[in-house]
Amino acid sequence: MSSIKITGGSELKGEVRIQGSKNAALPIIAATVLNQGITILRNCPKILDVFHMIKVLEELGSVAKWEGNTLILDTTSVSSTKVSEDSVQKMRSSILFLGALLGRNREVSIAYPGGCSIGKRPIDYHLNSIKRMNVNLLEDNGIIHCHTDKILGTDIFLQYPSVGATQNVILTAVLAEGVTRIYNAAREPEVVELCNFLVEAGARICGKGTSFIEIEGVKSLHDTDFKLSPDRIVAGTYMAAVAVTKGDVVLHDVPIQQIESIIRILDKIGCSIRTGDDYLRIRSYKRLLPYENLRTRPYPGFPTDMQSQLMSVLSLADGKSTIEEKIFESRFQNVDELKKMGAKIVVEESENKAVIFGVERLEGAVVKAHDLRGGAALVIAGLGAVGTTIVKEATSIERGYEDICRDLNSIGANTRYCSENIL
Ligand code: EPZ
Repeated sequence: MSSIKITGGSELKGEVRIQGSKNAALPIIAATVLNQGITILRNCPKILDVFHMIKVLEELGSVAKWEGNTLILDTTSVSSTKVSEDSVQKMRSSILFLGALLGRNREVSIAYPGGCSIGKRPIDYHLNSIKRMNVNLLEDNGIIHCHTDKILGTDIFLQYPSVGATQNVILTAVLAEGVTRIYNAAREPEVVELCNFLVEAGARICGKGTSFIEIEGVKSLHDTDFKLSPDRIVAGTYMAAVAVTKGDVVLHDVPIQQIESIIRILDKIGCSIRTGDDYLRIRSYKRLLPYENLRTRPYPGFPTDMQSQLMSVLSLADGKSTIEEKIFESRFQNVDELKKMGAKIVVEESENKAVIFGVERLEGAVVKAHDLRGGAALVIAGLGAVGTTIVKEATSIERGYEDICRDLNSIGANTRYCSENIL
């Protein structure tokens, strides 16, 4: 288990490129199972979650090869229909193999994904939807067994615009008989990206990016060469780092339209932001203003995956801010860690609301990453603090960031990975 040591006080300056999108790569890697052939994925981030999905693919019988950031997958001979319990417990995105393997083989056995530190994360919307598609589903001792003679398209009414449930229904529907209509579908860019990939591979999908998606089943898909979009949350994370260090940085390969809500909030609290087609310049040269009533929402609202990072930023703002976490039930794990650095935050449990009283300065401390985005947010707090911060259990950050130290140091930060026992 590694740690990250941050020496605060540097003003971030320079230019940095944003990696490919983790949350687009994961469903698309699962989707390659629907094609019995070769898929080329360009701009694929080399992160732990991607490595994990590749491992599952290889367990199923696929062959994977990297050429730089290009991932070449041969799914011709996927023979197994079983996704091991160990795989799913390690990373919940493996649940997307449910729809993909069902679509390919009309049968799948997969373990229930565990919850994680941010919430219970059930999959009832996934299972209730797939059962409606002429699929027999039984749960036996934590394993979900699905099989059918043929998947039939139908109307799916999602209780909530769940990203994963929308993606699993799409994966199940692509090779089904007939038309599947998803009402109250998730509108996240990663759902759009999955649809773009599948359409390039021969699927028939319309309505991507809206809350009504229609999939007309086809007989088969074909080989594809696809380039992943940049990661909107990594872009937002690095913008937050510039905000707390009074920096001046140009980010390249930024999915500008996808981060409008992040830009709007950083602009409102005092950052100066200028955008181009796929680059963005952000400057912060004075103490930031507070932000009242920040609420996380499904896309295009403010993303829950940026909530912890904004909490770090607002901890140093000049006044009182509030953040309501409306998506996950326990995503305020960073509060106690930030308080070790001198932040003044009160959580109103009943409303899942954090009230942040901005302080002049944070002090470096030894803190712990509870989850991927929380860990990145603690690195941001360390950059904005005085002195040295050690983020322990930082391996979780590598799940979504190719090399957060490399990127931040390239724009003037002073960070490094170190062994766990450094104190
Ligand atoms: C995706 O998770 C992302 N992960 C998450 O990013 C992101 O936070 C989340 O969408 C929301 O935007 C990937 O794309 C790999 P949901 P997902 O289904 O699909 C509840 C990160 O840091 N729910 O939209 O699991 C659920 O408990 C990660 O990159 C049910 O109740 O999110 C949650 O409260 C963290 N039943 C809410 O819906 C279900 O069947 C949103 O979940 C499914 C979900």
